[in-house]
Amino acid sequence: MDELKSGSHAEDYILVGNEKFIPLLSDEKIQARVKELGGQLTKEYKGKLPIFIGVLNGSFIFLSDLVKNINLKLEIDFFKLSSYGESKISSGKVKMLKELNADINDRHVIIVEDIVDTGLSIKYIEELMESFKPASLKVATLLFKKEALKYDVKIDYIGFEIPNKFVIGYGLDYAQRYRNLRSIYVLNEE
Ligand code: IMP
Repeated sequence: MDELKSGSHAEDYILVGNEKFIPLLSDEKIQARVKELGGQLTKEYKGKLPIFIGVLNGSFIFLSDLVKNINLKLEIDFFKLSSYGESKISSGKVKMLKELNADINDRHVIIVEDIVDTGLSIKYIEELMESFKPASLKVATLLFKKEALKYDVKIDYIGFEIPNKFVIGYGLDYAQRYRNLRSIYVLNEE
């Protein structure tokens, strides 16, 4: 059977062809931060019925862990965008591949993203969502590559700021693989 990781436990890494990914954020660190964010959202949305909207595919694990840490009645929906295709570099275009089922007019909406990189996707999403006139609109992202940001976007909840390097795991893929890793790994560019 093919295994994902190589090396001993303490220094495990992932080889994709001849590219090496090394640990960036451990499972424990991610879970602790997601719990904190869940606690914060529980307080801030008390008395409301928020709807959490995950951006597929990358946000499915973060959204799932986040809502398990929110002690409120809430709803969940998804939509799907495409911008990267098979590569590590954004094509600079966004395409809608699956639309929302829910009516978000007058609702308290929280968009859930795995990562904000250039900000192109979230900018497109913010404009689209505003056109449906929600009661409120906030954005939560697990990861934020601050140095890569090119668009003027509003992000309300950030799990971790990370360097401008390619990462995989915890929902994030490289050519659709490695989403199932519990920790996040970064491409070692040395
Ligand atoms: P943006 O539109 O440039 O902000 O990119 C957002 C989308 O690109 C994310 O939702 C991810 O799907 C993908 N992406 C950006 N950076 C990475 C990365 O380091 N690893 C995997 N996917 C990424």
